Amino acid sequence: MTTYLEAEADPQRNTGAIRIYGPEAFEGMRRASRVTAECLDALVDIVKPGVTTQAIDDFVWQFGLDRGAAPASLHYRGYTKSVCTSINHVVCHGIPNQKPLKEGDIVNIDVTYVVDGWHGDSSRMYPVGQVKRASERLCEVTYRALQLGIAAVKPGGHVGDIGAAIEEYAVAERCSVVRDFCGHGVGKLFHDAPNILHYGSRGEGAELRPGMIFTIEPMINTGRQHVKILADGWTAVTRDRSLSAQYEHSLGVTEDGCEVFTYSRNGSDTPGISVPPLTDAA
Ligand code: MF3
Ligand code: CO
Ligand code: CO
Repeated sequence: MTTYLEAEADPQRNTGAIRIYGPEAFEGMRRASRVTAECLDALVDIVKPGVTTQAIDDFVWQFGLDRGAAPASLHYRGYTKSVCTSINHVVCHGIPNQKPLKEGDIVNIDVTYVVDGWHGDSSRMYPVGQVKRASERLCEVTYRALQLGIAAVKPGGHVGDIGAAIEEYAVAERCSVVRDFCGHGVGKLFHDAPNILHYGSRGEGAELRPGMIFTIEPMINTGRQHVKILADGWTAVTRDRSLSAQYEHSLGVTEDGCEVFTYSRNGSDTPGISVPPLTDAA
């Protein structure tokens, strides 16, 4: 059974109830998400062969510091870095280190900045130099899947509509959808109700209502869906070592659809990859 709450009337912990936010929350989410999107834009010129993921972590830390934004990942449940960097068969939560990126890698960079208590959570794939067509294609499919998930968000619809749209498309493209991680309510909390599964059935799950704020962040594999966590307790990898890609946006449900808070303002939502906008015809 789903319960909904007025956002400000509730304790700041995940009670399982879905918060309904007002205009000030949307304003706060726009401010935090803008810093996140600008950082992801700036990383386009930084990610290249030879750059370490630690250098990316340093950049994300400093970028936030200069703008009064704190990285939410730092010290989150024992995580010790400002960003997640997930390369090739790493599905998510890759930990920055001193190993340089190499030509042909694809790396997901996942940034969450906190501004005035609001969390702007977004990630993009970055091709490192020239990459194989199969890698590029996986990124195209994954962003298209996210676009289709976003298009399914409207009041009166259900959380299951989002997962169904993503899964249907990914499977038709002969890819698989990771089931061990999901999107999530976001706002003053980093991870809140509801869970946004990237698979499922239309009409199932909580009803979507104006004022809900959450992420959609599908992880799509070229091989099988199964993942395992490495001994560091964070790094999730594909069991079959197939490639994995992910993009993430934070959004709010509006009266007639949704507002995506984390869009790039300079056309860099899919660095190095071309994914046309969804048209009504598509
Ligand atoms: N940003 C991730 C998400 O999309 C969460 C990272 S938690 C961390 O939900 F601790 F690994 F950084
Ligand atoms: Co997220
Ligand atoms: Co994220």
